[in-house]
Amino acid sequence: MFCFKNFRQRLNLRYISSLVQSKAYINGKWVKAENNEVFEIINPANGSVVGSVPNMSVNDASQAVQAAKKAFESSQWSMFTAKERSSLLKKWYCLIEENADEISSIMTAESGKPLNEARGEVAYGNAFIEWFGEEARRIYGEIIPSSTKDRELIVLKEPLGVAALITPWNFPMAMITRKAGAALAAGCTIVIKPAEDTPLTALALVKLAEQAGFPAGVINIVTTNKAPPIGDLFCKSPDVEGISFTGSTEVGKLLFRNSSDGIKRISLELGGNAPFIVFNSANLDKAVDAAVSCKFRNCGQTCISANRFFLQQEVHDGFIDLLKQRVESLKVGDGSKPGIQIGPLINSMQFNKVSAYVEDARLKNANIILGGKPLKNLGNLFYSPTIITDVPTNAKLYTEEVFGPVVSIMKFNTEEEVIHAANNSRRGLAGYFFSENIQQVFRVAKLLEVGMVGVNEALISAAEAPFGGVKESGIGREGCHHGIDEYVEIKYICMGNLRY
Ligand code: SIN
Repeated sequence: MFCFKNFRQRLNLRYISSLVQSKAYINGKWVKAENNEVFEIINPANGSVVGSVPNMSVNDASQAVQAAKKAFESSQWSMFTAKERSSLLKKWYCLIEENADEISSIMTAESGKPLNEARGEVAYGNAFIEWFGEEARRIYGEIIPSSTKDRELIVLKEPLGVAALITPWNFPMAMITRKAGAALAAGCTIVIKPAEDTPLTALALVKLAEQAGFPAGVINIVTTNKAPPIGDLFCKSPDVEGISFTGSTEVGKLLFRNSSDGIKRISLELGGNAPFIVFNSANLDKAVDAAVSCKFRNCGQTCISANRFFLQQEVHDGFIDLLKQRVESLKVGDGSKPGIQIGPLINSMQFNKVSAYVEDARLKNANIILGGKPLKNLGNLFYSPTIITDVPTNAKLYTEEVFGPVVSIMKFNTEEEVIHAANNSRRGLAGYFFSENIQQVFRVAKLLEVGMVGVNEALISAAEAPFGGVKESGIGREGCHHGIDEYVEIKYICMGNLRY
């Protein structure tokens, strides 16, 4: 998409001095919390305060829902033509692109993600706005051939109404745009509730949406560190038609349960426990490259991060030697500094969890061959990139998602054995395997019980591809043309007694 970016840069035009906001946005206005409460956002790399935002209550959130409802019902948004919705999304896309550097810096400051990765996330996140800006014009209905002569059977796709989007801290931008792009393209109005650790990136995006010209009430954002009652409001309010959540399986189940009374449309992108299988025929260099980029993306804090590495007997030792060399050379530190590849964990809860899982494996006689300890010299939330072999199946590193920079390795003999082990989990988000055997490639891709499979590839996310899991990893798909389905109702119109 052409955005006049370079042209504007040459003229040195700046529309916005800073995107760091300290208020939330409801009904087209930047507002405080009703009780004036605020909370601080902390840089996980050094503990400094990055900013503060309103600590909103259920009442504030309820006003956001009412604003979104009014904007939807007054037909301000759902009756915009598809081309008009598409144009606004494209304007938003261009503004994000123009401000990519500042958004990346904000993201690094509040999430600890290295700057290069933050830049990557801005490009990835913005690809959803571009994609859904294009898809907005292709939400086609159908005419179904009738079995009687005097009827026409017409199918329309209509926007749900108000959608509440509850998003996580690990991808502070992309998890918002993947939902918001689809919802807005479909004609829904939205209330965003970003994670309490990373609201500044979200507010920056909304500032740019305001500048793009979305009408008041179409996009609202509520910041809070009191998520449970606001989640409950979204589940119970008859004015919210759809909920989309990315986060833990536990919270996803709660939202699912609580919204069942209202028979709400719900889309859940939850945790995984991704297998990463290296078969004897694999190209080991490719497999090791992929293992490093998949495992250490965002310090391992990614739902589709490889969690259990299964290495076939013949390649087990060779893979570990190569991997160890690569992991030893990773640069850990404050992500705003040049060359840093691994930042801190997001907060002390996450840090304690990673430390406890490694200790649990140590106690169960796993073999820590690299790392396995905090890096206190760098700060309170840094953990050393870690490799552990012979992880037993009762270790937490095996049964749960570690969400940290830890490679847990197991050895296997046969394809049958590893497929059984990989599928022996209630999570089924992503799975990866490396094999140069074409027969095995098709067989294993079909046998893995996951929503997304990477074959000889581990960076699989793309705006045009469907993202989502099976089993307890979620419901629904995001991105791709399927992402729109989460925000539309199908209406059937039967035109009867027609005379031709
Ligand atoms: C996630 O961690 O859920 C998002 C990862 C991605 O979109 O690639």
